Amino acid sequence: MKMRFWINFVLVVTVVCMPGCKKKTPTPKEPEVKEIRLMSAQKESFGQTSDGRQIDLFTLTNTSGLRAKIMSYGAILVSMEVPDRDGNLADITLGFDTLDGYLAGHPYFGATVGRYANRIGKAKFVLDGVEYELAANNDENHLHGGVKGFDKVVWKLEDLRSDSNEAVVKLSYISEDGEEGYPGNLACSVIYTLTKDNELKFSYEAQTDKTTVINLTNHSYWNLAGQGDVLGHELTLNAEKYTVVDSGLIPTGENRSVKDTPMDFTLPMSIGSRIGRVEGGYDHNYVLNSSGLLARAAAVYEPTSGRVMEIYTSEPGIQLYTGNFLDGSLTGKEGKVYNKHYGFCLETQHFPDSPNKLEFPSVVLLPGLKYSTETVHKFYAR
Ligand code: GLA
Repeated sequence: MKMRFWINFVLVVTVVCMPGCKKKTPTPKEPEVKEIRLMSAQKESFGQTSDGRQIDLFTLTNTSGLRAKIMSYGAILVSMEVPDRDGNLADITLGFDTLDGYLAGHPYFGATVGRYANRIGKAKFVLDGVEYELAANNDENHLHGGVKGFDKVVWKLEDLRSDSNEAVVKLSYISEDGEEGYPGNLACSVIYTLTKDNELKFSYEAQTDKTTVINLTNHSYWNLAGQGDVLGHELTLNAEKYTVVDSGLIPTGENRSVKDTPMDFTLPMSIGSRIGRVEGGYDHNYVLNSSGLLARAAAVYEPTSGRVMEIYTSEPGIQLYTGNFLDGSLTGKEGKVYNKHYGFCLETQHFPDSPNKLEFPSVVLLPGLKYSTETVHKFYAR
């Protein structure tokens, strides 16, 4: 009996195992593909202006895969790709796929704005007893440097480099005495730095040969979800006051407390929660609590993607603009139609109309002195 059992057992085992028990030849292990990302700063052509000037596109990449593209036309930030909480990259700025999109006209997407960002009332100011007249390109007021501001000029490449800490592009522009009505030859530069710590730094420098006014900023429209409207973004501003404006968006001179009003973003609040109570939407300059030093001015969190953008600046003010004038008439990157509130701007700056408001922090630049400001955007996801 015992013997029969063992004979049967061996037979069954042999039959069952025969086909499958052949020693499997181990399939060679796929080599683990690990993308090695290096800090890099590269240059390529982005096309030509209508008068035949070559425009370059610079790509700064860091080791986490963040990628900033900047072009020499308008020193414009063309795109900024950052990961969401699952590591998926998206471009979180509004703009166009091609140079032609920018040349056709647009509301300062990604632009470096100057010589004076924001508005100057009645398009004039007095400096050293001389009245200077500027272009009235926003009703009776002057906006964002005039008809051909720094956003529409070709900047010169000064430096393009990367090391293990950062990737940098430095662009310069000489604005001549009298350009757009401003006094003094102004030599200025903007330096974009992408760091290994997922920061994009905007540094501005300038010198003049004659007393002038200056206020440089970046006018990027952000959308941390990469699409749709920005009303669900949660915003915090380190500001207890804002500059009250008249119907032409020129400050009256009064800095009013945000307390108990829809202007209050001292604690995180969604952009859309009270926007209906702000006529026209947000388009206001906030008076930052701490100025002069690089201090946190703003933080924005987008709940669906988890992306966060923090802003640090040495500037005394920040303009919150919620894309109120976007109306669906512009089609941008990848065929996206830009409707109202599809992007928001946080423009670090001196206050609007400062040349005419002596009580505001001064925007006067004297010969021999160096204008130097810095704004840092830090990106992460949670
Ligand atoms: C700024 C202004 C807005 C608007 C946009 C461009 O942010 O404050 O009023 O002019 O630029 O459309």
